[in-house]
Amino acid sequence: MTGGRRWATQQQWIDDALDRLLPSEELSPALIHRAMRYSVMAGGKRIRPLLCLEAARTLREETPGIAYPACALEMVHTYSLIHDDLPALDNDDLRRGRPTCHKVFGEAMAILAGDALLTLAFELLSETPGASATQRAALVRELAVAGGTRGGMIGGQVLDLEGEGKAPTAALLEGIHRAKTGALLRASIRMGAILAGAADAELDALSRFGEHLGLAFQIVDDILDVEQSSEALGKTAGKDVSQQKITFPAVFGLEASREMAATERRLGREALSGFGSRADGLHALADLIVDRTA
Ligand code: IPE
Ligand code: IPE
Ligand code: MG
Ligand code: MG
Ligand code: MG
Repeated sequence: MTGGRRWATQQQWIDDALDRLLPSEELSPALIHRAMRYSVMAGGKRIRPLLCLEAARTLREETPGIAYPACALEMVHTYSLIHDDLPALDNDDLRRGRPTCHKVFGEAMAILAGDALLTLAFELLSETPGASATQRAALVRELAVAGGTRGGMIGGQVLDLEGEGKAPTAALLEGIHRAKTGALLRASIRMGAILAGAADAELDALSRFGEHLGLAFQIVDDILDVEQSSEALGKTAGKDVSQQKITFPAVFGLEASREMAATERRLGREALSGFGSRADGLHALADLIVDRTA
């Protein structure tokens, strides 16, 4: 199967699982369920669920219940996007090719839709089919820490906002990126591995891969913000310069940023060496993340 077809099939599988696990639009209070579905079902590359699925596949052919952490990750990610786009944060009108959640449903409902996706994610993890109580607790902890303030997504968002207009330095930059994006990508891989029953050494190696890929992912996001059109991205291009964000291109320039993304991919690949061909899916995802154009 070609790379494109392989991912399209898996993305469809993830979309079907999300559709099953999100409350129906008819369920009361309908407005919040519509807002949640509007943002989650708008598409998106589903990179975090894909990483979760492929990490599990390096260890086992089938991992029952994997849809639960995969969807929980996408819900937390989508919540972070809804809130990232709010007027008080990046103030964006366009996301995943559609008007942002607050543009359609109003700010109050967008805030609540984000909150609701966050809590639903943990509800799902707590009832992951086929997982032991220990595994469920470990999944909850992974996502909570990765989404939190100490090196996690919220911590990174705070540094990102505080950094606006500050002199872009390499030290500040890496701290922001590792936290705001890297932590959730690393957790995506770890959660797949945890549910698949990874041994400590396997989890360590996959975590190293996740750290490098997480950084590569945000470097590429910063590059695309400069190089691509809003139409291609499905979100407003050129925002980082206009909001004086601390980004890789701002600190190092575009060419060096591209090289750094390639270096992170290489280091990530090296971390997978012990898995041999079992990690082919993760290698292919590393290419998808670094070579993407949107
Ligand atoms: C965008 O993430 C926000 C960042 C963390 C940089 P994605 O590029 O994964 O967005 P979707 O899910 O495909 O819309
Ligand atoms: C946001 O980073 C990361 C999140 C935690 C949502 P950006 O602000 O760069 O994401 P985009 O470019 O708006 O998708
Ligand atoms: Mg932002
Ligand atoms: Mg943004
Ligand atoms: Mg960005």
